[in-house]
Amino acid sequence: MAAQAASFAQGSALLHFTRNGNFGPGGSELMVVERGEGPYVFDTHGNRYVDGLSSLFCAQIGYSYGEEMGTVAAAQLQQLAFNTMWGTAHPPALELADKLAGLAPDGIDRVFFTSGGSESVEAAWKIARQYHVANGEPQRLKAIARHIAYHGVTIGALSFTGVPAYKEPFGPPAIYTRHVSNTNGFRSELEGEELTAKLLGEIEDVILEEGPETIAVIIAEPVQNAGGCLVPPPGYWPGLRRLADKYGILLHADEVITGFGRLGEYFGVTRFDTTPDLITVAKGLTSAYAPMGAVMVADKVAAPLYEDRRTLLHGITFGGHPLCAAIALKNLEIFERDGVLENVHAREDGLRERLEQLQEDLPIVGDVRGAGFFWAVELVKDEDNTRFDADERERLLRGYMIPAMLEAGLIARADDRGDSILQIAPPLISDDDVLDEIVEKMRTVLVGAQQELALV
Ligand SMILES: Cc1ncc(COP(=O)(O)O)c(C=O)c1O
Repeated sequence: MAAQAASFAQGSALLHFTRNGNFGPGGSELMVVERGEGPYVFDTHGNRYVDGLSSLFCAQIGYSYGEEMGTVAAAQLQQLAFNTMWGTAHPPALELADKLAGLAPDGIDRVFFTSGGSESVEAAWKIARQYHVANGEPQRLKAIARHIAYHGVTIGALSFTGVPAYKEPFGPPAIYTRHVSNTNGFRSELEGEELTAKLLGEIEDVILEEGPETIAVIIAEPVQNAGGCLVPPPGYWPGLRRLADKYGILLHADEVITGFGRLGEYFGVTRFDTTPDLITVAKGLTSAYAPMGAVMVADKVAAPLYEDRRTLLHGITFGGHPLCAAIALKNLEIFERDGVLENVHAREDGLRERLEQLQEDLPIVGDVRGAGFFWAVELVKDEDNTRFDADERERLLRGYMIPAMLEAGLIARADDRGDSILQIAPPLISDDDVLDEIVEKMRTVLVGAQQELALV
């Protein structure tokens, strides 16, 4: 092993979205997770953590289905370890595509498989482009996305991502994208339908400014993750649908996080009474027992791909891998058999009430927002909801809260890509005891944060 690799806790591995230099001699300890059980994970020292983030929004059914998944995986590997979806197919992917089409809103019946979220977003863009080209509108080359939204890191998807710091080193975006306001109602003077009208008005202005005939896609998450579970105001999604239809633009719901029960539905956008043209999914599709993503494509958008001599000009070797497809099918069977969506429906209000109690008790909590099992509290300095400055955020989030959470045995997300938030996304199988445990540990950490910043 190279000497330099040996001196870092992560050895030769590079950690994603991490300050890799933190884990050298005298630095932070690296948490190495080696076991999972129900909603808990355990590190190599045997410490137990309640996984209040479902391993980055993935572990919908938690960690105790390994044996069942292993049986399915072994059977599939013995039957057929691999084949592509390039001109041929295999039974698990065909079955999964039909299953997903059955779960999707009416009119969304085609499924393109990928290996993850960024790949899904890229594939959706290419399918959208082929649709516009086939319709004689090759000039539709632009996209509209929202500030602070995260849509992935591959060069196309990165264009849609609205976090400037993630993009700066990589030069001009591959896809010309206009970013518009997100739906942070807490930081707006307006609320309800007035806020909706303002946000939709801004999008329409951008469409007209750029030229409606040049816009290919509007991409948005049903509830935006980055910025802290930004719920749309009433009528926002139907309004996006109307704008898209008015100007011949495709509407893309990025459900990499919100899909598969996070908001209590297979597709979160159905909570907002809207059928988009494209839906991207990943993470929860397999509950992360294997890596897989997909693009759900409306029949209208897929139609040109069936025309004589037209080729779908996109493919990914591992897209639809039989092992992953078999695991995804088993995951969906478990959702139905074990009442996973029903569990979210039954406990969503209770989870919200627990968090609202935190807001009542703790001055540092300025706002509570979210849906399903996807919630954030926004952290504020005083009762005027003053924001923390950059130094305070560094001290509060990275200096205090992240280590304090691990100390308390909680995995949650302290984030300041937008305003300062503490976010949770519990496994969808969590019962009331687990939700109590998560919120009580949040309380412990937030009380400590108030003391740390001398707020009380
Ligand atoms: C909304 C959204 N889109 C796309 C992605 C990218 O997914 P992946 O990390 O699987 O490439 C993410 C990842 O968190 C996401 O939250």
